[in-house]
Amino acid sequence: MSLRIDNFNPGPAALPLPVIEKIKEDLPNFQQTGMSVLEISHRSDKFDELLAETITRLKRLMGLGDDYRVLFIQGGASLQFAMAPLNLCDGGRPAFIDTGTWSTKAIEQAEKLGFEPEVIASSADRGFCYIPDEFEVPSDAAYLHLVSNNTIKGTQWQSFPRSPVPMVVDMSSDILSRAVDHEQFGLIFAGAQKNLGPAGVCVVIIREDMLERKAHPATPIMLNYATYAEKNSLYNTPPSFAIYVVGLMLAWIEDQAGGLVGIEAQNLAKAKLLYDFMDESEGFYRPTAEKEVRSAMNVTFRLASEELESQFLAEALDQGFGGLKGHRSVGGCRASIYNAISLDQVERLVAFMRGFAGRKG
Ligand SMILES: Cc1ncc(COP(=O)(O)O)c(C=O)c1O
Repeated sequence: MSLRIDNFNPGPAALPLPVIEKIKEDLPNFQQTGMSVLEISHRSDKFDELLAETITRLKRLMGLGDDYRVLFIQGGASLQFAMAPLNLCDGGRPAFIDTGTWSTKAIEQAEKLGFEPEVIASSADRGFCYIPDEFEVPSDAAYLHLVSNNTIKGTQWQSFPRSPVPMVVDMSSDILSRAVDHEQFGLIFAGAQKNLGPAGVCVVIIREDMLERKAHPATPIMLNYATYAEKNSLYNTPPSFAIYVVGLMLAWIEDQAGGLVGIEAQNLAKAKLLYDFMDESEGFYRPTAEKEVRSAMNVTFRLASEELESQFLAEALDQGFGGLKGHRSVGGCRASIYNAISLDQVERLVAFMRGFAGRKG
């Protein structure tokens, strides 16, 4: 068996091998400093360079202009469920479209903080297997919160709504996976541990006008976007190693042919292979999301029984395919096919799935 498995984990998730190898190479002596990046000061010129380069790469990849700021914040994507309302409501109410666990949690958090979230649409009535397409965004809302890809339910916005108020988008599980107009958003956040690097840092991209909003007076200093913006994410010690790995991931993405357009084509090809195979499996494998909104990142599916699913997962692991278990809240199976997963790996997975269905079907 090879050293590395085919890792379909939902996050932390697979990193490209060249990134892992670069970390290994850099470890004892980062850029001739005689120290690893784990050991250098976040106040050093070397770290300043690293930070600046990482921000430049991210903005270049996303096509973002000078009016956007990139912040690196700890606390995971979940902390943004509190930071967004605390910083952006400025006396108004946030609006939400509820498409599953990660928007539900954001709504709960806004509620708990007293911001009276308005849920303008929800797909809860059918277990979040679809994305609502009929709703009106109130023009007096502080902002509209969306989750671009629903990691647990396997649905993904195929295009974004037009909104009269700024959109705040949780891109934790599909950031940099496709070519979208990022300037349509007022704020983008993503926990890095899926498509962008390791756990420990959340990337927040905020438009200047959103930064000018008045934060709730009780907002802790460490939960105020201005704290990070004013000090270039260096108010306190940032998660320096995680930021370094994000930088390597961005360099890797830039090295892929075709930029985000190329990445998107590759991701769609992987997803199509898997979904087409399952659609033709005569119901042996049943994707759980509605066809029009299936995620190109998290492919969720069921087999005929939980027992069969357990056998499938055990045999898969035995054959070197890891991370295929569905989220504990929903069960079933899920193949997370983020940028670092190659078409070859998905082909291998499909070959295994075909063999399994042949033996059990
Ligand atoms: C879409 C989405 N938002 C938020 C989160 C929460 O992220 P974190 O664990 O970094 O708080 C996740 C985690 O899987 C997610 O998939």
